[in-house]
Amino acid sequence: MDKFVIRGGNPLVGTIRVSGAKNSALPCMAAAILTEEEVILENIPQVRDIATEQRLLASMGAEVELGYGSAEHRTTICCRTLSDPVAKYEIVKTMRASSLVLGPLVARAGMARVAMPGGCAIGGRPIDLHIAGLEKMGATITQEHGYLEARADRLRGAHLVFDKITVTGTEDLLMAAVLAEGETLMENCAREPEVTDLATLLIAMGARIEGAGTATIRVQGVPRLHGARHRINPDRIEAGTFLVAGAITRGDLIVADCNPSHLGAVITKLQESGARIDILSPDEIRVQADGPLRAADISTEEYPGFPTDMQAQYMALATQAEGVSVVKENIFENRFMHVQELVRMGANIKLDGRTATVRGPAKLSAAAVMCSDLRASASLVLAALVADGESILDRVYHMDRGYEHIEEKLCGVGAQIQRLGNIFAPKEEEVVAG
Ligand code: UD1
Repeated sequence: MDKFVIRGGNPLVGTIRVSGAKNSALPCMAAAILTEEEVILENIPQVRDIATEQRLLASMGAEVELGYGSAEHRTTICCRTLSDPVAKYEIVKTMRASSLVLGPLVARAGMARVAMPGGCAIGGRPIDLHIAGLEKMGATITQEHGYLEARADRLRGAHLVFDKITVTGTEDLLMAAVLAEGETLMENCAREPEVTDLATLLIAMGARIEGAGTATIRVQGVPRLHGARHRINPDRIEAGTFLVAGAITRGDLIVADCNPSHLGAVITKLQESGARIDILSPDEIRVQADGPLRAADISTEEYPGFPTDMQAQYMALATQAEGVSVVKENIFENRFMHVQELVRMGANIKLDGRTATVRGPAKLSAAAVMCSDLRASASLVLAALVADGESILDRVYHMDRGYEHIEEKLCGVGAQIQRLGNIFAPKEEEVVAG
């Protein structure tokens, strides 16, 4: 299993580039199910979750072509025939976002069999809202042998009100609604940029959608969709992670190929923490930190609030800030797996339910630590970048699920990170979040 050996102490200086958003790419790839024609996606990140989704689509009979060389960030998907509309457990257990194929499969093939996602490292993550929405649209859903089966000759438009805001739930039902008969009105939708990115692709495929990016989405169903070419948004969580890396190492970093308008809440908190942030252009942000960092509280919320996917990374920063930072996790229970590892490195953090109280600044010392999920891994990398000595991070396959060549990118701006092991060797798989 791969490990990172990280020697801390270097400020990060230079330009670091952001890849395409994994969480946009995953639903966009699932959207290819909705048409018999080719969907070409650009700016696809080379991360393991994408490889998993390619495997998932291929197992259903889709032709999935990977780009090589200069086209390595492109994938072409053609679902001319879907011989086997089944999302098998072996694949679903490694990536919960596999439930994103449920809506498009029923809409296109009239039936779907999707393995129920199992337990999860960051708390129970049910898909009851996906199921309730499809039932309202006329699907019959049964559950047997760990699989969920959905059937509908043609889905009908419906009035859907989400009890709770869900990102993949909004995306899944949006994909179901575009081919449904009549109008679907979706309320209390997720407003994340990834939902908007998916809607942009669907509209390019011929869908009729209004209001994506707001809480209310209105869809007029169409009988068929056609192929399209689409460029995936930059990854706002990767960009946010790099901004924290610049600040925590007291560096001077330009984060390039990002979208600053998706990072409002993160930028505000970094400024409150004493980092200097300059928007250099529509796709470049500069972060500088030379003075002391200050404590600032965060409370995770749905977009446009502070993202839960940045909570762990922000906590690493809070360990280095003067004063007390209160970190409240409102989206997922049990998303504090990084805390015990940060404490082993010398951080002063007290946990009480969904609240972590961080007292800083703490002098971090290098240690052997274990990555437990995608964003927790990022938090440990950030802590190791400022720890005294050489840290060893085990189970970095969690990191590889969502960060493209992170060690190469960080080494390019002055970090000292060595990967031990073979990135291409088969890895132990786990059900993980992110
Ligand atoms: C997505 C992101 C993930 C991010 C999360 C919150 C992808 C692939 N993953 O995950 O990185 O951390 O949004 O921003 O885009 N819930 C229910 N019933 C449901 C669905 C969700 O109760 O049917 C609950 C969840 O348990 C959770 C909350 O709703 O407490 C939000 O979850 P959701 O937005 O669905 O997260 P994901 O879409 O899985």
